[in-house]
Amino acid sequence: MKKIYLVYISLSGNTQSFVRRLASYLQFQSDIEVEEIHVKDLVKQAIPFYTLDAPYVAFLPTYLEGGNGVDNGDTEILTNPLGDFIAYEGNEQFCLGVVGFGNRNFNHQYCLTAKQYSQRFGFSVLDEVELRGLNNDIERVGKKILELVANK
Ligand SMILES: Cc1cc2nc3c(=O)[nH]c(=O)nc-3n(C[C@H](O)[C@H](O)[C@H](O)COP(=O)(O)O)c2cc1C
Repeated sequence: MKKIYLVYISLSGNTQSFVRRLASYLQFQSDIEVEEIHVKDLVKQAIPFYTLDAPYVAFLPTYLEGGNGVDNGDTEILTNPLGDFIAYEGNEQFCLGVVGFGNRNFNHQYCLTAKQYSQRFGFSVLDEVELRGLNNDIERVGKKILELVANK
C-alpha cells in the first residue's frame, strides 16, 4: 500500500486543523496510508529527528518578525524546527512540495516562508492556504496530493 506523510508545524492550530481535515479527505478518497507528523510535538517531547521512509508533503505557516517582505521583514521566527526536520539527513529528498499557510493581510509577506523553503530545498510550493482553509482548499490540495502520489 502506498504511504504519505503529512509533516507540519502549527502554533495557533490553523495548520493542524487543515492537516487533520486533509488526512480524513485523503483516507476517504483513496486507500493510501496517511501519517501526520507534527514537528512541534517531536521537539516538545524531545523525540530525536529521524529519516522518513516514504514521500511527504510539508505544511508551513508564516510567522515573520515584521517589515514588508520586500526589503525587510523576511526573517522567520517560530517555525524553524520544520526546516530542521526537512534538512535532517536527506529528508528533503522525499518532499513532494510545501503548502504555505498565512494571512492575506500580510500582503507581500503572504506565505513567504513556504516560498523561501521552495528556494532553499528545491521543491515547489504546491499551494497556499489562508488561515484554516475552507472545504474547497482541502479538496484542491487533496487532489494535487493524490495526483503526485499516483505518479510516484
Ligand atoms: C506574529 C505573527 C506573524 C505573522 N506573520 C505572517 C506573515 O508574515 N505572513 C503571512 O502570510 N501570515 C502571517 N501570520 C499569519 C499566520 O501565518 C496564520 O495565522 C497561520 O494560519 C497560522 O498558522 P497556525 O495556526 O498553524 O500556527 C502571522 C501571524 C502572527 C501571529
